[in-house]
Amino acid sequence: MKNQSTPTELSAIILAAGKGTRMKSPLPKVLHPVAGVPAIKKVIDAVKWAGASEIRIVVGYGEALVRKVVEPLSVPSTAITCYPQTNQWGTADAVKSADPATLKGEVLILCGDTPLIEVSDIEKILREFRASKADLAVVSAVVKKPGNLGRIVRHHGDLRAIVEAADASADTLKITEINTGVYIAKAETLAEYLPKIQNHNAKGEFYLTDIISICLEAGEKVTAIRARASVGFGVNTQAELAQATRLLFARKRTALMDEGVLMIDPKTIYIEEEVEVGPGTVLYPSVYLRGRTKIGAYCVLEPGCYLAHAKVSDGVHVKAYSYFENCSIGAKAQIGPFARLRPETEIGAEAHIGNFVEMKKAKFGARSKAGHLTYIGDATVGEDVNIGCGTITCNYAVDRKKYRTVIGDRVFVGSDTQFVAPVEIGADAVIASGSTITENVPAKALAVARGRQVNKENWQPSKPEAAAPSGSNVKEVE
Ligand code: UD1
Ligand code: CA
Repeated sequence: MKNQSTPTELSAIILAAGKGTRMKSPLPKVLHPVAGVPAIKKVIDAVKWAGASEIRIVVGYGEALVRKVVEPLSVPSTAITCYPQTNQWGTADAVKSADPATLKGEVLILCGDTPLIEVSDIEKILREFRASKADLAVVSAVVKKPGNLGRIVRHHGDLRAIVEAADASADTLKITEINTGVYIAKAETLAEYLPKIQNHNAKGEFYLTDIISICLEAGEKVTAIRARASVGFGVNTQAELAQATRLLFARKRTALMDEGVLMIDPKTIYIEEEVEVGPGTVLYPSVYLRGRTKIGAYCVLEPGCYLAHAKVSDGVHVKAYSYFENCSIGAKAQIGPFARLRPETEIGAEAHIGNFVEMKKAKFGARSKAGHLTYIGDATVGEDVNIGCGTITCNYAVDRKKYRTVIGDRVFVGSDTQFVAPVEIGADAVIASGSTITENVPAKALAVARGRQVNKENWQPSKPEAAAPSGSNVKEVE
């Protein structure tokens, strides 16, 4: 009996030292975004949610950058630590770099470039591994185009070895059951057999795949666990990255439609993983929802809307081609078309923001309106305020500092007004159209700040000499 450890202890080693030469990009391969999320984060999340208490990431190429992305993902229940691999001598050498002899229980080994793996895949792998009572298992999948992937070689159905494409015979290359690059092993099995792997092969690398035949020869119980083809889908090229992105977006759309979100032409709609959308909400074509965006129930998002980290309450109507970043919208507000809400903007319930309106760091009260061509920045606008067309808060001064405009409840701002901040307008004040407001306005006052109109009676501009009638053919004569 070799296994003395608690079966519940689960850890993972994720291989991520490779450059990813075929990506033809300076970014380490595992950091390329798949549907807005770094590929390796998808693998980390799946393992985390499956209950791993520790994740060791093997880093090499772009180590500093990879650390920057993965180390902050560490949480009390799952410690994430990076282990540098000095030379890229192959996948077995990579696993050795993670010091597996210090692990206990079950160890998952995965690649950082397989972003389509999900927690349900890992749970299935764990269930089958535990049921099999094996010491080691490779996760396989049957694929249409096995290409360069390692082939699962069986004899009378029993697993025999994994043979790398570069070392395979023509017959072996015909096998469509492949190595996904995911393995699960008892920690002590890994520690015992990893050092026995040699580099006698076409590439002169230490292949982790060799551990299968080595363990079998030593009489250990080794098995292959079948998974979905997507588990082994490695991102090695930009085309594969785009394919993975497409698939993840499709999964998200399906999940949301299952929860009652309406989509007109779903294929044109892109929604990142963490986004939430309430039931009964209608998404028109070409809507793009990013990051931590959260949309309530019974909203309508018309074509071409882009929302990043936006919180939208129930019953909001966002008209076509609006752009929101890091802002919040109260219930039943109407926004757009062509509205731009920049970070730290809060729109109150039932407010109305019309076309070509930009807001930034603005608190805009309930039922207030800014219907047309307006910039509101660094401002607090009360409730039931009317902002006339062409109103501008002049928030940026020559000292390169930003100043605030404060507008009280029920203020009526005439069209083409400029507020030169800092400035405060009391409740119920009225600002005459065309005003340039540089001083505070008391509550209930009427402020007029514009040049007075002068009408000059019977005034005509001096007439030019009568020109030749147009279309006539008069030529000048000297
Ligand atoms: C490997 C498997 C192959 C399997 C395929 C699945 C071996 C020998 N072959 O092939 O059977 O079908 O994965 O995708 O294991 N890495 C390191 N350090 C190294 C070498 C690799 O960290 O020294 C990392 C890479 O960054 C990558 C992963 O290991 O994330 C897999 O390496 P890669 O070279 O892509 O292996 P494949 O040729 O795809
Ligand atoms: Ca690969």
